Amino acid sequence: MAALFFATTLTAPQANAQQRREREPNIIYAERRAQLVAQADGPIILWGFTGREEVSQAYVFAQEENFYYLTGHNEEGAGLIIFPAPKHDNALPTVGGPRSSAAPRVDASSGPREILFLPTKDPAKEKWNGVRMAPTDPDITTRTGFAIVKPFAEMRAEVEKLAKTFPAVYTILPYEKELGGYPHEKAVVDWLQVAAPQAKVKDIRQNIYALREIKSPGEIAFLQKAIELSLDAQLEAMKMMRPGIYEYQIAAKMVEVHAMGGSEAEGYAPIVGAGPNSVALHYDKLSRKIEDGDIVVLDVGAQYSGYSADITRTLPANGKFSARQREIYDIVLGAQNAAMATLKPGVDLCKKGGHHSAYNVSYDYINSHGKDLHGKSLGQYYIHGLGHDIGLDVHDPGEYCQPLQPGMVVTMEPGIYIPEENLGVRIEDDVLITPDGYKLLSERLPRDPEQIEKIMADAAKDRTTNKP
Ligand code: GLY
Ligand code: MN
Ligand code: MN
Repeated sequence: MAALFFATTLTAPQANAQQRREREPNIIYAERRAQLVAQADGPIILWGFTGREEVSQAYVFAQEENFYYLTGHNEEGAGLIIFPAPKHDNALPTVGGPRSSAAPRVDASSGPREILFLPTKDPAKEKWNGVRMAPTDPDITTRTGFAIVKPFAEMRAEVEKLAKTFPAVYTILPYEKELGGYPHEKAVVDWLQVAAPQAKVKDIRQNIYALREIKSPGEIAFLQKAIELSLDAQLEAMKMMRPGIYEYQIAAKMVEVHAMGGSEAEGYAPIVGAGPNSVALHYDKLSRKIEDGDIVVLDVGAQYSGYSADITRTLPANGKFSARQREIYDIVLGAQNAAMATLKPGVDLCKKGGHHSAYNVSYDYINSHGKDLHGKSLGQYYIHGLGHDIGLDVHDPGEYCQPLQPGMVVTMEPGIYIPEENLGVRIEDDVLITPDGYKLLSERLPRDPEQIEKIMADAAKDRTTNKP
């Protein structure tokens, strides 16, 4: 299986990796690796590809996110070994120990304790796919930030050697809950078991996730840029929304605004759901002609330098909420405001939570305001959580029931979805948790229904005035 994986990955034509617009300085990635390895008592061995790229001509390579987080390297076919800290560091936390906030910062400049493996130069392949970084490039150490860069083919011998010294090696073990894990995660483990059969393979996933949850200033800047582009796109959508336009036309405009503003890709497949489609959480068909009287959920987020925004607004197709639409909209907005008012370190988003749960605040608000057509409370129509971390993944690592900490960036997205009324409303904003509370990163985009109606009315007037 491992051999087959190598063969297909390394020989199939591949689309170019998206050129991410910016990258943090090399020292930031090096510090992350140093922090991580301080928590391990054996080498950490990772691969920089997902194995998903060969399945579709339309697929654009996207780096394995944990690998990207630790290296900033955005090309396929890479490998990484981080060697454990020397013995005298063994007072530091070990795997399974305290979360990242407790981990000390480690001096990343204390010598080469890691190797980056890259594919060797392949001029024939570069004719198809463009120039790639190779171990023999003269500037490869300064570009990658690794003192040692070797051909990927040498990685196995290095692992075999390490396994003679270390009884355990660390990698990312497949996630059982996701149908046994992604194929690339299994492939690395299979490969390790062949290369180092005597070594115990341990999991480093949660340690990387703990680091990823707390965003660096550079990551926050990339997220803010992704958010700003998403807000621009939402404003354009408000201005062009009208009965008769198709869902995909709204989405196309939003994607255009993202791309023209510097976004390299969408954070996720755009969701523009009108009328009956407003109640489907991740609706992606985008085929409906939007009708007078429809409510329209627009959940569309840009990716910038690898980081995804996640923003939703809900609009009346004809520019004016009906009384019922407005009633439900106001309840969702009230729930969002009530939940946000509680945000600070120590609060959580836990669905089964106690008095620290911001989710509970939002649920209680929804369940105690308004009724369905049968006189029942609305809590049953709030069918998802209050929020999640965002970052390299739009659903970034993070546990709902874990207390929020400064530096986390999470969504606040209560919603009510009533299929019987073809009425779905979601309002989704992105917030940074600060030492004293939170900062609303998407504040520029109106949530107030009257402000939204005014933007739509002004745009409708402009359309009429400008008509030839
Ligand atoms: N855009 C997906 C979500 O809100 O979780
Ligand atoms: Mn979300
Ligand atoms: Mn969303």
